[in-house]
Amino acid sequence: MSCTVVVDGFFGDGGKGKVVSYLAVADQVAVCARGGVGPNAGHTVVDDGITFKLRMVPCAFVNPDTKLLIGPGVVINPEIVLKEIKELGIEDRIGVDPQCAIIEPKHIEADGKGYLKEKIGTTGTGTGPCNSDRAMRIAKMARAVPALKDYLADVPVELNEALDDGKNVLIEGTQGTYISLYHGTYPYVTSNDVCASATCSDVGIGPTRVDEVVLVLKAYVTRVGAGYLEGELSHEEAKRRGWDEYGTVTGRQRRAAPFNYALAKRAAMLNGATQIAVTKLDILYPECKGASDYGKLPPEATAFIDKIEEEIGIPVTLVGTGPGVNEIIDRR
Ligand code: IMP
Ligand code: MG
Repeated sequence: MSCTVVVDGFFGDGGKGKVVSYLAVADQVAVCARGGVGPNAGHTVVDDGITFKLRMVPCAFVNPDTKLLIGPGVVINPEIVLKEIKELGIEDRIGVDPQCAIIEPKHIEADGKGYLKEKIGTTGTGTGPCNSDRAMRIAKMARAVPALKDYLADVPVELNEALDDGKNVLIEGTQGTYISLYHGTYPYVTSNDVCASATCSDVGIGPTRVDEVVLVLKAYVTRVGAGYLEGELSHEEAKRRGWDEYGTVTGRQRRAAPFNYALAKRAAMLNGATQIAVTKLDILYPECKGASDYGKLPPEATAFIDKIEEEIGIPVTLVGTGPGVNEIIDRR
C-alpha cells in the first residue's frame, strides 16, 4: 500500500501522463487524483495504439478499476471536463470536488490578450485569471454548476479513506517545477505552485501520508512560452536531434535544450523526490526504442542514467523507451 506523487522536474511536458498511466496499471492503483493548475495542462497517453490528449481527467483512466478524482485546488473548465468524461466513458468512476473553481468565458478572454498573452505567453486557457478571481474570493465554484452535480465528490475524504483502507493512491501533478508560481522563473510561470507539496494540498492529502515522490525528467529539456532556457538550441538544431515537439494544448513549437543536471538536482530538492523517472530515452538513443530489459540498453544510455543517479543521488526507477503506456523499464 502506498501513496505516490508524480511531478515534473523541468518545465512540464516531460511525460507525466505516460508515467501516471503506467503506474495506475502496474501498481493496481485504487484511486488517482489530479492536482495542479487546470486545463492549461495537456497530458498525452498512448494506450493500445490510440492517442489520448487529456487536459482535466487523470491519466490513470487506462486502468478501468481506478477511481478518478479532480482535487479542489484545480480550476476547471466544465465544458472540457464533461467532454473528456463522455469520450472516455468514465461517468461511473469520476469525482470532481465541489470546491474546484470554474473557468468562465471572461477568464479565457482575459488570458488571450495583452500582458498574459504577449509577455508571458500563457496557454490562453483562462487558468490564471480564474485563479486571480479565486484569490479575490469572487470565483464561481463547481458546486454551483448544475451540469457537474452528478459528479461532485468530497475528494480529500475519498483519498484519505482509500489510504486508511490500505489501498494504492496516485497523485498526479501538472506543469513543471520551473513554471511553479513560487519556485519557477517568475514572472514566466503558471498561476499556482505545482511542486509535490502543493499538489498534495490541491487534492487534500497531508505531507505525512506520502510515501513516494516520483520526479519525471525528460532526457532533454523543453519549454513553451517565454522565459530563459539555458543552453537553448535553434529550432533547426532541435529538429535535427529529433527534439522538436509541439504543445499539446497550444500547438506551439517547444523550445529545446540539453538535459540540465543543476535544474534536476534542485527540482529533486524542491519536491522531496524519492525516485526519478527518465522519459524519452529512445529519442536520445534510438536503439532504446521499446526496450523492456535494462541490461540490453546500449552503454551510452546506461552511462547517462548512471550520471543522473550520481549527480542527483536518487535512483532512476523508471525509464521511458517509447510513447506507449508499456514502453517503460521498471527497475523498482
Ligand atoms: P498559463 O499556465 O497558461 O498561465 O501559462 C503560463 C506559462 O506556463 C506559459 O509559459 C505556458 O506555456 C506554461 N505552461 C502552462 N501549462 C503548461 C503545461 O502543462 N506544460 C508546459 N507549459 C505549460
Ligand atoms: Mg503537456
